[in-house]
Amino acid sequence: MRELKILAVIVVLTLITYWGVEPFAHSQMHPHHEPATFKYDDLPALTKKGDPKNGAKLFMNAGCVGCHSIKSQGVPAPMDAVSASASYGVNPPDLSMAGALYDERFLASYIKNPAHAMKLEHKFNQNRPFPMPNFYGLGGDIDQEVADIVAYLKSIAPKEVKPKEAFENACGRCHNMRYDKWTVIGEKPKFKNDIEEKEFELKFAKYEANLKKYLGRIPPDLSMFIRSRGEEYIRDFVEDPQKILHGTAMPRVGLTKEATYKVIEHIEKVGDRKKDKRNSLGVWVILYFAIFALIAYAWKQKIWRDIH
Ligand code: HEC
Ligand code: HEC
Repeated sequence: MRELKILAVIVVLTLITYWGVEPFAHSQMHPHHEPATFKYDDLPALTKKGDPKNGAKLFMNAGCVGCHSIKSQGVPAPMDAVSASASYGVNPPDLSMAGALYDERFLASYIKNPAHAMKLEHKFNQNRPFPMPNFYGLGGDIDQEVADIVAYLKSIAPKEVKPKEAFENACGRCHNMRYDKWTVIGEKPKFKNDIEEKEFELKFAKYEANLKKYLGRIPPDLSMFIRSRGEEYIRDFVEDPQKILHGTAMPRVGLTKEATYKVIEHIEKVGDRKKDKRNSLGVWVILYFAIFALIAYAWKQKIWRDIH
């Protein structure tokens, strides 16, 4: 009987400690912030209806192709990722999917003033210009021209973007994902020999050094973030990093709601491959402990019976 009482006391104390600590730890790790709305309504709405044909011409004439590839349209990258990072700090992304990934209101503002749309004006200004220049128009109505470029990007974008593609296009120029063999300079290839591997590592190291110079620090590998932060945190952080890490160099990338969930789906798949398995395993672990406790109890009874 005494043992049962002791057991009861231990169980109660453990539960109190658990309930006391868990919600507290939770509130510390996830301070409250407004959830994502994906409206980007601090930026002006598009007022003009874009013409994709004219947008295609403007895209060429405005010099976008000087930095960006559009592989789906046969527009090649002007330079490799490492050289691009030496010039711009980061490799300008391929824009084949931009129209499907980014909110159109965001895109229009971004083209006119990237640092403003990304909320990075505390890092980039007159003294330290953002690597992508503002677009000041090519002589016509600038709002019409911007709407045309946005319409062009939307017209060439695929109807459906895969989760992995969404991640690689929107985040992959800054973030590695080791567990998926993704590096900031692309998929890690299978190496034929040591020299190939060393060459790849050298390129990777150069790119990361440029990235660090550009952003002030190397962005974290995102393989395990889904476990430490969870889906909601990542969603709200991506929608507006400044809201959560004030002063951070991580840009607001302007993803649509759908694209954000695609990205998260990929991060979750890579970081938590065993989620379902783990959940079903839980039952067996508890069962194991229950049986183990019974055996331990029976054993203890037997020993004490002999002693008394
Ligand atoms: C001098 C090089 C340069 C030129 C010219 C340039 N860009 Fe960029 N662009 C960049 C760089 C660098 C980035 C990535 C910046 C970052 O992630 O910090 C970028 C990013 C982008 C993005 C991704 C934005 C996001 O939210 O992730 C889009 C879309 C884009 N550019 C469109 C354009 C369009 C349209 C033009 C032509 C009007 C253009 N760019 C001209 C260098 C350039
Ligand atoms: C232009 C580079 C750049 C791009 C593009 C970018 N990030 Fe980041 N990201 C950063 C930097 C820099 C940090 C480190 C921020 C800090 O600690 O202040 C960061 C940090 C993070 C963090 C960690 C936040 C924390 O609490 O520590 C997450 C999660 C994240 N990024 C997700 C994403 C996702 C998802 C995407 C694509 C939708 C993305 N990032 C695109 C540069 C980038």
